[in-house]
Parts: sequence; C-alpha cells; structure tokens
Amino acid sequence: MLETASTIVTTAGERIEVLLDAAVIQDRVEALAGEISAAGLHKPLVVPILTGSFIFAADLIRALHGTGVAPEVDFLSLASYGSSTESSGRIRILRDLEADAGGRDILLIDDILDTGRTLAFAKDLLTARRARRVSTCVMLDKKSARSVDIAADFCGFACPDAFVVGYGMDLAHRFRELPFIGRIV
Ligand code: IMP
Ligand code: MG
Repeated sequence: MLETASTIVTTAGERIEVLLDAAVIQDRVEALAGEISAAGLHKPLVVPILTGSFIFAADLIRALHGTGVAPEVDFLSLASYGSSTESSGRIRILRDLEADAGGRDILLIDDILDTGRTLAFAKDLLTARRARRVSTCVMLDKKSARSVDIAADFCGFACPDAFVVGYGMDLAHRFRELPFIGRIV
C-alpha cells in the first residue's frame, strides 16, 4: 500500500481516505476501557457481535485487562439480509452464545451502530433470556442512519454519514485488516 497524506491506495487500486488512524483509535480504546471499568459491571460477560467487531473487541478486552476487569467472553454472530452496504432490517443468528445469559451483566460490543437494528436485536435477545443488565459498546455511532430508537452506553467516535471500512469493518468481506478506519473515495 502506498500512503499519501491521509489517503492510502490499496494494491487493488482503491483509494481510501483515513478518518481515524491507528494511534487515535488506540487512545480512544484505552479511554473506553476506563469508562467501562468505572461503570462497575459485575462478573461481566463480554459479547462481541461478529464479524465486524472482532478487532475492536480484541483491543478492548485487552485494554479492560489493563484496568483490572477480567470478563468472560463469548461470541454472537449476527447477519442482516440485504446488499453489502445497506441493511435490510431482518436479522438472523448465525452462531449463538454458548454461555447462559440468565442473571449476567452483559457488555455487547459492535463495530458500528447504523440503523440500530443489529444492536437492538441482540439487546432484546439477551434481555429475553433474563440477563441482569445488558450494556452496549460500539466503536462508531452513525447517528444519521438510525431507524430504531437505541443509543449505545459506550461509544468510541461519532461516524460521518459514509460507508466506512477497516479496523474489522468490511465491504463484501474486504478491508477488515486495515489498522485504521477510512472511507473509500
Ligand atoms: P445496523 O443493524 O444497521 O445498525 O448495522 C450494524 C451493522 O452493519 C454493523 O455491525 C456493521 O457490520 C454493518 N455496517 C453498518 N454501517 C457500516 C459501514 O459504514 N461500514 C461497514 N459496516 C457497516
Ligand atoms: Mg457487523
């Protein structure tokens, strides 16, 4: 990859404008871990929503360790039907939790809060399973796209009304490996 100012060119020739670089992300993840730790979750069960959150979750749980939080971690894999850049609204479970959510303090982690349907689905699911508390943490909040009334308890950054990639987020399964968050230009 060739880097010029805040735009990088991939080996396939796409130009990606860097919106949040790796150092900025790392600082914010450390701060988020502090906020979550201060909220005092009791024996937390951290539930990253796959796939987009896997890199954020990996960084966040290690930052949580630095604050003295020792969570259990289990994954929920959700997909929404639809095209690669627009959510259709129907969510399905691709892989369910192994853990019993009943009575637990759960921290849901997702990459980006867009229409809100994915996070609302996950929150409703775990609430219906009688979790004691379901908190939510997202790396990015795209407020302008919301169609369900939901706000994240912890949020990394506000996101512009653009389709973003990198730091786990994809366009048709590509670009997840980028260590920064950017927009294809
Ligand atoms: P929601 O259900 O519409 O809130 O969408 C949430 C999911 O859509 C996220 O977990 C992402 O996987 C995906 N998503 C939404 N916006 C973007 C984007 O700009 N880039 C990459 N993925 C996105
Ligand atoms: Mg996702």
